[in-house]
Amino acid sequence: MVIAIDGPAGAGKSTVARALARRLGFSYLDSGAMYRCVALAVLRGDPAVALDDDQALGRLAGGLVIEAGERVLLGGEDVTEAIRAPEVSEAASRVAASPSVREAMVAMQRADMADGNWVAEGRDIGTVVAPDAGLKVYLTADAGERARRRAAELGGDAGVVLAEQTLRDARDTSREHSPLRPADDAVQLDTTELDAEQVVDRIVGMVDSRGS
Ligand code: DC
Repeated sequence: MVIAIDGPAGAGKSTVARALARRLGFSYLDSGAMYRCVALAVLRGDPAVALDDDQALGRLAGGLVIEAGERVLLGGEDVTEAIRAPEVSEAASRVAASPSVREAMVAMQRADMADGNWVAEGRDIGTVVAPDAGLKVYLTADAGERARRRAAELGGDAGVVLAEQTLRDARDTSREHSPLRPADDAVQLDTTELDAEQVVDRIVGMVDSRGS
């Protein structure tokens, strides 16, 4: 079974998806970490690839070996912390707009989740990667609250985080390929007033009521 957890940055996807996977004994897939790995590889510049060269980005992405669970491995190197740098966030949002990169990542994500039980978080899990997911949850929260959470997690000023987040949200929701949007059959959950445990409890309740 696949449980898809989608939504914008700061809605609580990572905390919730990790805790949910642990609670249910499912494997965890962080699809955003995969786009971050592509961005890190591009920023390292070997081979040199421009952030707007779709074909070259796709070739680079398709050749990467990525494991994106609790720890994130790129070609066997632990890049869990390196991929959280602000310049990687910015570049990730740009490479995620490349259709060839998305094609390569979606293929990797589907191969990873071909067997077993998964909680997968991202932007397009319920719409593109796993349209047959047993449960699709689309987490939201108001923009100010999302920025406060990211600032608390990563350090930095909430106002600056909010400005960057607004840009990334606009890019993620308006891109031509796989824009961020809830699947038609997703359950939308506003987490503004909820802590992570309450969100996990609600999702576990949904899993139970679906008899899985
Ligand atoms: O969730 P995150 O911040 O780690 O994601 C990094 C970037 O990748 C972000 O700009 C959104 C994009 N992304 C995507 O386009 N599709 C996904 N399934 C996951 C992330």
